[in-house]
Amino acid sequence: MSNFEFYYRLTYRRAKDEARIDWHREEPPLLLKEAVEAGEKHGRALDIGCGTGVNSVFMAQLGFSVTAVDFIPEALPFGIRRAEKAGVKVDFVAADITKYETADKFDLILDAGCFHGFNERYRILYRDKLLGWLSEEGQYVLIHFSRAHALGIVGPRGRKRKEIEEFFGPQLKLENFLPETGGKPLCQYRFRKLSLLAKA
Ligand SMILES: C[S@@+](CC[C@H](N)C(=O)[O-])C[C@H]1O[C@@H](n2cnc3c(N)ncnc32)[C@H](O)[C@@H]1O
Repeated sequence: MSNFEFYYRLTYRRAKDEARIDWHREEPPLLLKEAVEAGEKHGRALDIGCGTGVNSVFMAQLGFSVTAVDFIPEALPFGIRRAEKAGVKVDFVAADITKYETADKFDLILDAGCFHGFNERYRILYRDKLLGWLSEEGQYVLIHFSRAHALGIVGPRGRKRKEIEEFFGPQLKLENFLPETGGKPLCQYRFRKLSLLAKA
């Protein structure tokens, strides 16, 4: 088990109250709201590193058919309870996203705080899977640290906008970006997968 996984496992195991988890937010990220409020078809959504499922339930409430994946099984009961309370169905899956296999295609993929923990090898594995899962013109919303986290060895890697944009391009086109606010080094990205026609 990596330091990172150990840290997450310990956090969810010890958390009696999800509101006390460091990264817990009741409010979905602005660019996720923008993506869903674009008023497009509400098809399938994937929440990568779903944690306590706040955003998974948000998307399900808007009519998406949601798959929510996290590699810490102890995180999932929070989301299952939240979905039950909200009266929506979310397919919660305990799996490492870099090993996860599905034939499904998704119109919206969210990653709030998972990808920025990956090293180079896992980043590339992740990108290949992501590009395969995202439907033509599907949206990808990424919440990512722009500076290294104070926790150092178990903390997220900080990456600049240019690096992120180049990493996912040219298949994904950046449509909106929100820089860090309020002292938190968290940036928001909303990408769209280019259609095959647009590339021709
Ligand atoms: C910072 S937390 C954010 C949780 C949630 N997205 C949110 O916004 O509240 C990052 C989450 O990613 C999960 N995670 C990290 N690496 C993962 C991996 N390889 N596969 C699946 N989940 C992973 C962690 O267990 C953790 O729940």
